[in-house]
Amino acid sequence: MRVTLTVNGSEQSADDVWPGESLLYVLRERLGLPGAKNACEQGECGSCTVYLDGEPVCSCLVAAGQAQGRDVVTVEGLASEDRMHPVQEAFVETGAVQCGFCTPGLVVAAHDLLARTERPSDLEIREALAGNLCRCTGYEKILDAVRLAAERTAGTR
Ligand code: FES
Ligand code: FES
Repeated sequence: MRVTLTVNGSEQSADDVWPGESLLYVLRERLGLPGAKNACEQGECGSCTVYLDGEPVCSCLVAAGQAQGRDVVTVEGLASEDRMHPVQEAFVETGAVQCGFCTPGLVVAAHDLLARTERPSDLEIREALAGNLCRCTGYEKILDAVRLAAERTAGTR
């Protein structure tokens, strides 16, 4: 089947999509967007998180056909043409990226949190990122990154 959807603001189509294929597979393998990562493929780790119609979802659990006609934003789509998003910059600056496998999902989850909550408490940050697993960092640098991004984005909405 053909699936047509909007990805990062542009209409995109993929042909010969198998009915069991995931949105994650379509994004990575058919549309050339490797940002969302395939780690567990079971909805457990959050590394494949993207926005679907403005809501963060695990794209490994969304059938590609379910995304037909809908709006997807990936971690690539958060940056502007010449600059990373402040959340992305904060992850780099605080050293919250080690192997980087978890990073795209964490960035999308943190972006969503800061869009909803301008100055989140540590508890709110931990809750918002609870579905995103990281095996490298011990999470402290990730918390630092979200705190820094919150400081920088507060008052900019
Ligand atoms: S790859 Fe989707 S939740 Fe782990
Ligand atoms: S940086 Fe390696 S899993 Fe998080």
